[in-house]
Amino acid sequence: MKPMLASARRLGYAVGAFNIVDYNSARAVVRAAEELRAPVILQTSVKTVKFWGAPTIGSWLRELAATSPVPVALHLDHCTTLEVIVQCIAAGWTSVMIDASDKPFEENLALTKKVLEITESVGVGVEAELGAIGGVEDDKQVADEDAHLVDPDKAMAFCTLPLAVFAPAIGTAHGLYKSAPKIAFDRLEALGRRTPMPFALHGGTGLSDEVFQRCIRLGCAKVNISTQLKHDFIDGFVEHHLDKKEYEPLKPLRAQFDRVKQQVSQKIRLFGGEGRFEDCQSCP
Ligand code: 13P
Repeated sequence: MKPMLASARRLGYAVGAFNIVDYNSARAVVRAAEELRAPVILQTSVKTVKFWGAPTIGSWLRELAATSPVPVALHLDHCTTLEVIVQCIAAGWTSVMIDASDKPFEENLALTKKVLEITESVGVGVEAELGAIGGVEDDKQVADEDAHLVDPDKAMAFCTLPLAVFAPAIGTAHGLYKSAPKIAFDRLEALGRRTPMPFALHGGTGLSDEVFQRCIRLGCAKVNISTQLKHDFIDGFVEHHLDKKEYEPLKPLRAQFDRVKQQVSQKIRLFGGEGRFEDCQSCP
């Protein structure tokens, strides 16, 4: 993921990081990227990894990535424990997020460095977060009043580490927005002027096209989409069944695949990833 996102930041676009839950959703993401000749990130929550078991879901995702003509990174989202990070690396993930953002600054930094030590020798990318992104992700819930924005001075301690990507809390939140979010573009801009580090934009569901594009211009090279895909995944299946009332599982699965793929294609285009599959020269 590191060379992929370094190219994206340098060239001014973002790679979509899509949270998948099974083989059908993962295949839809990869096929959308292939059609648009775009790099893509298959992202798994810790909950999804635990549901299937890392070796099982890892084998499906590795197969999709290895046989695809476009660069596909396999990324572990918001992980708080070294144990799951190590399991996923052993099962073939190519990058991991250590989320120690609820810990005191020094502890967050120390844990991030520890993960970098673990990943250095195996060439796995690392994402770290500073500040608190609101909303619910896995079992972690950050209430609006507890969400706080990144401090650009403190963030530089992370941005001088050899991370693949850094996630600054800038006012976005996981899940559905109750009202339009107030994005701290000023902080993103201040940070982007000081470092070439690619940034991750969390809480992608429900942001406007203008917000996406402005954040990408200010250095966000990875955009996370989860909640929107969960809706497409379930609605795609259920609506097909309610309409047709047939008990042939492959048909609603096909409808689900098409719905997820369409959403992913639209986002890849919006983030400027179309045709970018050859940018990342050192990708395998
Ligand atoms: P959404 O659920 O708001 O799309 O956020 C996704 C995300 O940031 C995952 O880490």
